Amino acid sequence: MTQISITKPDDWHLHFRDGEMLNETVPATARCFKRAIVMPNLVPPVTTKAQALSYRNRILQASDVDSFTPLMTLYLTNETTPSMIKEAVSEEIPAAKLYPAGATTNSDAAVSGIEALYPVFESMSDAGMLLLIHGEVTDSHVDIFDREKLFIEQHLAPIHDRFPDLKIVFEHITTADAADFVLSCDQHVAATITPQHLLLNRNDLLVGGIRPHNYCLPVLKRNVHQRRLQEVVSSGSSKFFLGTDSAPHTKHTKESACGCAGCYSAWSAIELYAQIFDDLGALDKLEGFASHHGPDFYGLSRNSGHITLTKTSWRVPEKITLKNGDDIVPFYAGQELNWKLST
Ligand code: NCD
Ligand code: ZN
Repeated sequence: MTQISITKPDDWHLHFRDGEMLNETVPATARCFKRAIVMPNLVPPVTTKAQALSYRNRILQASDVDSFTPLMTLYLTNETTPSMIKEAVSEEIPAAKLYPAGATTNSDAAVSGIEALYPVFESMSDAGMLLLIHGEVTDSHVDIFDREKLFIEQHLAPIHDRFPDLKIVFEHITTADAADFVLSCDQHVAATITPQHLLLNRNDLLVGGIRPHNYCLPVLKRNVHQRRLQEVVSSGSSKFFLGTDSAPHTKHTKESACGCAGCYSAWSAIELYAQIFDDLGALDKLEGFASHHGPDFYGLSRNSGHITLTKTSWRVPEKITLKNGDDIVPFYAGQELNWKLST
């Protein structure tokens, strides 16, 4: 097959950042996605309806595509109350994000003692607001490669048991344990999967030298986990959908003695997924993953337009230079891809 056309896709998890950076990140996503779930981990975080709506306006101003729709999220903290949820939940703000404190970039303000948020989860369940979860425990004694698995046992399964009607997205899953947990749950639990976790494993981070541009959280895992993620997306299960976790950091903050976590994949996101599905012999499952399962789970309509991808090789740029002179090294920089979005 040399060309495919699929319903216009959406990105169900990404980071746009703020300020000048929006002029880079928003058009890069709007080039192929109709909607995106925008993470709230700004500094300070987006914790209220008013902050989410004003952030939404800044994003809309930065989009050069009229039809792009940002979907906003609230950042849950120990100060979030059920009335803040009731006030915020809307078409514009369909979800809230749970970061365990210290789990990832800009999560210092996040939740410690997840049970303390149970009244908030109850109000989300009542109001039909989705709970998006960064599923890793953060106890310093727990090995970084085991953090996702332990989160399932310690927090995720109990939350789902206690709030069976609450829709939960287990974000950017990285392990067979997470994939199998999601499959074992009813229709209220789903997961997003990034291109990097389908394409790479921890060897791509550590063999032959540390590769800071492949460093993201949750960290890349063993190849057996990568294979399980590939299997579940190839199966066409509607419990898994596209969420790039595109997360820009400047070159110097990634190429550092203490490098930041996050891969900026917006420049090649849909093309990377097309390549992955093609390599897996599952190109017929791409449309479900990229364009159907997400809106179906969120209870939104599927998009009406289409995009076309053509089998042509091209190279991801080595770097992107921002207006202020800072460089960003995009995910897969300098490497060749064999699917390209047709404009
Ligand atoms: C994200 C970021 O940079 O904001 N980083 C990452 O490695 N994925 C945060 C996140 O989603 O964990
Ligand atoms: Zn993220």
